[in-house]
Formats: sequence, C-alpha cells, structure tokens
Amino acid sequence: MSVDTARTTTSTGTTTASATGLTPAQLVARQRPGYSLEAALYDSREFFDLDMAGIFRRHWLFVAAEAELPEPGDYVTVELGRASVIVLRDDDEQVRAFHNVCRHRGSRLLDDACGSVGNLVCPYHHWTYGVDGRLLHADNQPPTLDRSTLGLRPVHVRAVEGLVFICLADEPPADFDDVMARVQPYLAPYGLTRTKVAHQVDIVEQGNWKLVMENNRECYHCDGHPELLTAYFPLHGYTAQDCPPRLRPVWQRFEEAGAALSASCSRQGFPTQTMRELDDRPTGFMINHSPLDGDGHSYSAGGKSVCRRRLGAIDDPRFGDFHLHLQPNSWFHMLSDNAVVFSVLPLDEHHSRLRTTWLVHEDAVEGVDYDLDALIHVWSATNAQDSAFVARTQLGVLDPAYTPGPYSQVEGDVEAFVTWYTRRMADYLARR
Ligand code: FES
Ligand SMILES: [Fe+2]
Repeated sequence: MSVDTARTTTSTGTTTASATGLTPAQLVARQRPGYSLEAALYDSREFFDLDMAGIFRRHWLFVAAEAELPEPGDYVTVELGRASVIVLRDDDEQVRAFHNVCRHRGSRLLDDACGSVGNLVCPYHHWTYGVDGRLLHADNQPPTLDRSTLGLRPVHVRAVEGLVFICLADEPPADFDDVMARVQPYLAPYGLTRTKVAHQVDIVEQGNWKLVMENNRECYHCDGHPELLTAYFPLHGYTAQDCPPRLRPVWQRFEEAGAALSASCSRQGFPTQTMRELDDRPTGFMINHSPLDGDGHSYSAGGKSVCRRRLGAIDDPRFGDFHLHLQPNSWFHMLSDNAVVFSVLPLDEHHSRLRTTWLVHEDAVEGVDYDLDALIHVWSATNAQDSAFVARTQLGVLDPAYTPGPYSQVEGDVEAFVTWYTRRMADYLARR
C-alpha cells in the first residue's frame, strides 16, 4: 500500500465563511437549488471543522473491508480530524472499534495505519488492554482501582456483508440499520466476507472532500476516462426517447444485456431493483445493477474477466456492475470476479484521502488466478484522471472569480449529494 501524505498549501489563502459577511447557517440556507456550492464551503477552516463535527462525527462512515482484518488482533486506524479510531477483530472474530486514546493520561495507543496486536499496550506507561477493550493491566495502582471502568471507550461499529462502518455519534442515525437491511440481500451474493485484499492504494486528493464526492457522483466527465469507457455502453446522457438514430443499435444491445442480467439474477435467486434515496435521509444511499459492454464481465479491456475465481455465489461471469453509493463518503463496484471499494476522508479543507481497495476471492492466487496489473488497471487510471479533475476544480473554486454554476441534466446525483449535505449541515447548525 502506498500512502502519499505530502501536503500542499494554496497561495490564495483560506476563505472564511465570516469573510462573506454571513454566518455558516446563512451560507447553507442560501444554497441555490441546481447550482454548485459557494466557495466558502470548499475553502474555509471554519467549514472543515463544521464538516467534521456535523457530518463525519454524526453519520455512519464506511472505513474498511472486513478482508483488511482477516485474523484476531488485526487492526486499522481511522483518522477523523482530531479523532483517531481503532477498528479491530477480537478473539471471538467480531469487529470492534475503540477510540485510540489511553484511559490513563490520554496517549495515542496505535500509530500505524494497520497492523496486528495480541493486546493493546500503551507506549507511555504500558497500560494494557485486551482486543475486547478491557483494561487488563496497569502498574503501581492502588488495590481500590476499578479496572472495569477504565476500558477503552467503544465506538459504534457495524460489519455488513464484509463492509465495516463506524459512527462517532452518541446516538447514531437510526435509519442505518433499515438501509442495511434493504441493501444486504444485494450484497450477500458477492460473499465479501470470504475475500482478500488484492491491492489497496491511498491518494491524497488536492481538493476538498465534497469535490471528491461530487466528482464521483456523475459521469458527465467520463470522456476523460478512456479506460473506464471501454466497459460502458456509450449511451451516457441518453434515454430511449432521445437516443439518436446512430446509437439505436447500441441501445438495442444495451437493452438485451439488461434483460439477460435480470434473467441471470432471477435464475440465481438474487434480487434486482434500483433504489435511490440519496438526499432526504441521514443514511442516503443508491443501488443499481447495470450490464457492462463487451464481454460484460469486469472493468477491463473488452470487459473480460480479470480473475478466474468468481466471488461468492455468483455462477455467471457476465454479471455486470452492481454499485452502491452511500452518503457521505463511499461508493462500491461489485463484479462477478472482484469488488472495488472506495472511501473518502477529509484531511483539511483543501485535501482529502481517497482509499481504493480491490477485493478478490480469498482463494484466488496472484499470478495464477489474476494478474495484479490487469486487475487494477482501469480503476487506477480512472482514479488518476479523477484526481486531476478534483485538483483543477479546487483551483477554480479558490479563484476569486468563481461563482456557483448550474448542474446539467445528468448530474442529478451530484445535486442529490449537495442537497443531502446542506440538509444535514442545516440540521446540525440548528441543533448545536
Ligand atoms: S497514558 Fe497510557 S499508560 Fe499512561
Ligand atoms: Fe470520474
């Protein structure tokens, strides 16, 4: 895994919301429907802090695949502004999460992004915690010390079909379990609990986290993704009604592939339905299962399979792309032979971490069942291209000449993200 933690600073400085003469609540309230956000929301320390408090510390966040924690004691750490969280697998193989803060005098416990521990030993005075969070050992304490009250502070955590979510709120959004109950049957066929990490890469995006998410939520720019486009039917932006005559044969091919995919789902007993509830609930989500062009197996040249071992219970290699979008910070692509999962975490108002993880069947062998370069080729190229789009947009929104611009007819999910964000932020600002 390569992690580039280099930061850059902008020469333009940071806009403050107060520099606009408006309060954050007023700035959010005057968001114009159908238009991009105002500069201060992409470019102020004030809004970065508000985003951490009002979005990232109040909502469920996708932070890891269970495949990153294959054995008891395996952990990842998650940095959320000033907060650091340990996500680990305990000796009963359950996924747990704790604040990465010693209960003695507060030292960070774990420094690394991932690793494996027997117990959690504080580097400062060596208080020792079990992987279940209990305080096991503390030197030189009076016999009256009640160790049972000094375990690591837990963080809400859910493992859903191999995907791990945490929430730092005292009372997490209650709709998460409902959303996951509806999504779970769609994830189950992919058997993500029986996968392994083939590759993981972090990119430090030169842009505010909202620009990273907005960029993901549309394909208006997809002619900038030549590798990705080889997998898609070249019909983006058209409907059956306005599809031009030259594309009618492609439309027919697309419809036939869609019908074959639906039939394949039915035959295998898997649900197939589009759900789109992106903007009006705390756990905004969207699921869609689409056919891919060419062979239709995977993201690769000609849509060919990139791994010989199929995931889970899927018996049909031509199984298109099941994708899940979750507010505020994740998206997922599932194919018959691999899954690619993405998470975004803010680093500061101008930088974000995009983590991409490729999952394959746990028994797949690199060099035998899959070639790593072929597996990651399309999304590596696409990530690099998206990263450049995000960076150039960040430069633009920092420019004093920037004013919010109108969304096109094919940017509905960008508008849904911005609507979700402004509603959640308005709710937070009204309550604090
Ligand atoms: S701060 Fe952890 S043992 Fe003292
Ligand atoms: Fe893109």
